[in-house]
Parts: sequence; structure tokens; C-alpha cells
Amino acid sequence: MDKSEQKHCCGCKGENSFTQLDQILEKYREIHGALIPVLQETQNAYGYLSKEALEYIANNMQIPVSQIYGVVTFYSQFHLNPRGKNIIRVCQGTACHVRGAKLILKALEDALNIQAGQTTDDLKFTLETVACIGACGLAPVMMVNDDTHGRLTPQIVTDILKKYQ
Ligand code: FES
Repeated sequence: MDKSEQKHCCGCKGENSFTQLDQILEKYREIHGALIPVLQETQNAYGYLSKEALEYIANNMQIPVSQIYGVVTFYSQFHLNPRGKNIIRVCQGTACHVRGAKLILKALEDALNIQAGQTTDDLKFTLETVACIGACGLAPVMMVNDDTHGRLTPQIVTDILKKYQ
């Protein structure tokens, strides 16, 4: 089959997407045991690891796809579903818990119309919970991407979200 006719790793028809995965695989072609860096770079390029991408990598590296799934599901750094442009991490650690972290999470779930662990349909936000993020003095706390927001109330979280639209 001509390369241009092959299904792209991300399921799209963009030549670019196809080229990116080929470039990653080419970079590691001679390196033994390079599966994890290949997966990391593929996820960086596409935002997540699609079924098509994993099958493409399996064929190219001649590794059983079941083995690749074993690696991807073992490490929490890998994601099998699309992730939002903005990643919200709401702390549920002890200090935040006693200062109303559950209410913060509920306010975010209501505002985004998703549950923790999900991504909005427009792919703008992914909502996750985490244990202590080391800013207990600011509890309750959430992170949006690399930004830390503390002393939250259910009222102000919706205003914070507007900055990331
Ligand atoms: S418990 Fe939330 S930042 Fe430490």
C-alpha cells in the first residue's frame, strides 16, 4: 500500500500527523528497548496514545500490541484517550479535604459538566483529582496546567476557568 493511502496513527487524514510518528520511529529505529521513549514522544506529539498509534508502533517495532498495552496501562503518565488543552488537578489531600476540597471538585464538575477523570467534549478541559501537591498552606488548592490556585471557594473556581477558555 502506498504510504499516502495508509491510515494515520491518529485516525486523521493529515499528512503531518503521519509524518510525525514516522519521524519518531525513525529516530529510535536502531535503539534497542526504545518503546517507552517512542510512546512518550508519540503522546507529546498527539496529546494521547490512540489505538491506531499503538497498532502502528507495534507493527513498526515488531512488538506484540498486547505488550505495548501492558506498558501503557502500567504507567500513569500514558493516556489512551484525548486530553483537554487545559489539565485541571484538584487536590484531595488531607489539608484540602478539611477545607472543602469536595465542594471545589463539585463546583468544577458542575461548571464543566463532566466528572473527575473526564474531558470536556470540546477538549478544552480535563478534570483530575490528585493527592497533596505541596501547597497545603493555600488549601484548598487546584492546579490548572502549571498554575497553582489556592484558597479556593466554589464561587471563584468558575472565574478561574474563564481565564483558560
Ligand atoms: S493537601 Fe492539598 S496541597 Fe497539600
